[in-house]
Amino acid sequence: MKFLITGGAGFIGKWLVQQLPMGADVVVIDSLDAQVHRTSDDFAPELKARATCIKADVQTIDEYQAVIEGTDVVIHLASQTGTGQSMYEISRYVQQNANGTATLLELISRLEHKPRRVILSSSRAVYGDGAYTDGQHIYYSRGRRIEDLQQGIWEVLSDEGKPLKSLPMHESHLTKPTSVYGLTKLWQEQLMQNYCESQNIDCVTLRFQNVYGPKQELGNPYTGIIGIFTNAIAQGNPLELFEDGLVTRDFVFVGDVADAVVKCALHDSLLSSTINIGTGRATTLIEVVETIAELVGRPANYRVSGRFRVGDVRHAIANMSHYESVLGTWSPTSLKSGLAQYLDWYLRQKPLSAEVLQASFKEMERTGLLLSKRG
Ligand SMILES: NC(=O)c1ccc[n+]([C@@H]2O[C@H](COP(=O)([O-])OP(=O)(O)OC[C@H]3O[C@@H](n4cnc5c(N)ncnc54)[C@H](O)[C@@H]3O)[C@@H](O)[C@H]2O)c1
Repeated sequence: MKFLITGGAGFIGKWLVQQLPMGADVVVIDSLDAQVHRTSDDFAPELKARATCIKADVQTIDEYQAVIEGTDVVIHLASQTGTGQSMYEISRYVQQNANGTATLLELISRLEHKPRRVILSSSRAVYGDGAYTDGQHIYYSRGRRIEDLQQGIWEVLSDEGKPLKSLPMHESHLTKPTSVYGLTKLWQEQLMQNYCESQNIDCVTLRFQNVYGPKQELGNPYTGIIGIFTNAIAQGNPLELFEDGLVTRDFVFVGDVADAVVKCALHDSLLSSTINIGTGRATTLIEVVETIAELVGRPANYRVSGRFRVGDVRHAIANMSHYESVLGTWSPTSLKSGLAQYLDWYLRQKPLSAEVLQASFKEMERTGLLLSKRG
């Protein structure tokens, strides 16, 4: 089988290439974006050993039609991925994520033999704040109001001001992104689904929750909070937790994510589906920090700051019932076991300097996107 993986040199791509069947014909197209690949502008040797690697922006992919001919499955991972950064580098995110996907589809339309399946790595960001309930009805939040956040009202409230309970994100829920990044992921989904339907290509949209694990680029301060937390704890630096530290996320181990993508790629019947990829378990940021500290064997020196990022969602957790009904049992790695594997790798890397991280916070402050609770 022949696979085309855009963005295959990134965090998830590196795992995916290793988990594809041995002997598969794999082409990776990746721009080796300097923000992600800070330490090298070449493909890693283990990637070159398994794939034909082409350094190119996906927006110029039509130049590589001859290499791509005969592809059975396209896996589109290439994206700009910083949610906060997308709120001020808007045209770059729209250009690379939406136009990049459009160019890829134009190339597919010119191929002599069309792929039988296209898989998109989408994101939980398309759900925005997600769905809430008062026990009787489902509510879709219009987003948390800045005035409320400035008063330390962190939870999503009903129009009458009553606290609501967050529901696990289900594929049938409305999509209401709260960031430019989320919007561009939704456009990618719609572009892919619309085009594939017209061409009878099996389109699989995977909505990832927060992916973590070894090989996540430490030099990119715009993504990967587990890397940021681990860095601070391992170096004995103070750590800031936004809001009240009780924001929840669904942290899913990268090896499980790569397994799920491979399972979809090799599935022998039509999938044509949108599928969540998470663990189905919610973890607060305080719990993550305390688990890392326990594994590192040092106390976590954290401060709950009351600062908040405009557009951040309060709770995110996947409902995995659709995955199980389409692809079978899902037994994700526990957070403790995944973090232990992450730490084992992390301790062999060059740590990210605290200044790089602070610079990304400064950028958000300057653009009015990192605010504080009053008083
Ligand atoms: N990591 C997560 O937590 C997470 C969560 C939800 C969704 N996703 C999605 O999964 C995909 C992979 O994410 P990741 O964590 O591996 O990110 P990553 O930044 O590590 O990898 C992305 C790769 O794409 C490349 N790239 C970026 N723009 C490109 C372009 N225009 N042309 C060619 N290559 C380009 C980068 O050089 C990088 O190697 C992305 O589509 C992302 O939106 C990731």
